[in-house]
Amino acid sequence: MVLGVIMMATMLPTMIGLNEATQGSRDQEENRRTTERKQRVHLLATCSLSQGTPELRQQIQNAKVYFYITKHPSSSMVPFNGGFYQHPDFPPNNTSGMVTITGGETPTLRWVFLDAQTHEMRWGGRPDSQDHVCGPYNWTKDEQFVTLEGWEGWLAVRLSEDEARDQSDQELGIVDGQELWRLYFDQNDDGANLPPGAQGLEIQLKRVMAES
Ligand SMILES: *[C@@H]1O[C@H](CO)[C@@H](O)[C@H](O)[C@H]1NC(C)=O
Ligand SMILES: *[C@@H]1O[C@H](CO)[C@@H](O)[C@H](O)[C@H]1NC(C)=O
Ligand SMILES: *[C@@H]1O[C@H](CO)[C@@H](O)[C@H](O)[C@H]1NC(C)=O
Repeated sequence: MVLGVIMMATMLPTMIGLNEATQGSRDQEENRRTTERKQRVHLLATCSLSQGTPELRQQIQNAKVYFYITKHPSSSMVPFNGGFYQHPDFPPNNTSGMVTITGGETPTLRWVFLDAQTHEMRWGGRPDSQDHVCGPYNWTKDEQFVTLEGWEGWLAVRLSEDEARDQSDQELGIVDGQELWRLYFDQNDDGANLPPGAQGLEIQLKRVMAES
């Protein structure tokens, strides 16, 4: 009995120390996550092997998102360059919105939103995003990929007009427009109601740290 009390007495400080350490590393982990969430990132499309043909997958795999997905961006295209952000639609301190920085003389923060009618991803000012879906965005458990409304319903889409444009561009000798895919989100998991003739491949959006 006596021994038990002594043992407890000597163990107690250790146990308190342990709790403090756990609390400390929990805070640290929380801080790390908060910082990481604020990190500005680019997005890369990754395409699962079950999708499309090897040729199509090759156009998409590791292609950067400029809102278009392409390996051949024109000089006017600006990559997605942003991250999670507080949005007025969500409770305070809730970083479930998403912004991107536009290029040009005066870089501006723009909301990233899902067009509720077309299911295409777009960006713009507050009025542009009204009545569309501005989140909640999140990341996957490994913090590597982006989710919207809790899942990765992303699609790389080519409309038949995109095909037609590529062909006319090629005839004109313009390469800029080649192999452009659009970024869609399959909000209702029904194929996003793509227009006839459109082609959609399921993709993931990988976060990669922006250079600066
Ligand atoms: C942020 O707000 C959204 C929408 O209300 C909600 O789904 C999400 O759970 C909230 N996130 C946190 C961390 O509270
Ligand atoms: C939001 O975060 C700030 C700074 O961490 C804090 O002072 C404020 O109380 C928080 N607001 C809410 C509603 O949680
Ligand atoms: C965001 O994702 C993380 C990791 O999967 C999860 O722990 C967290 O609860 C999610 N937040 C919301 C608001 O869903």
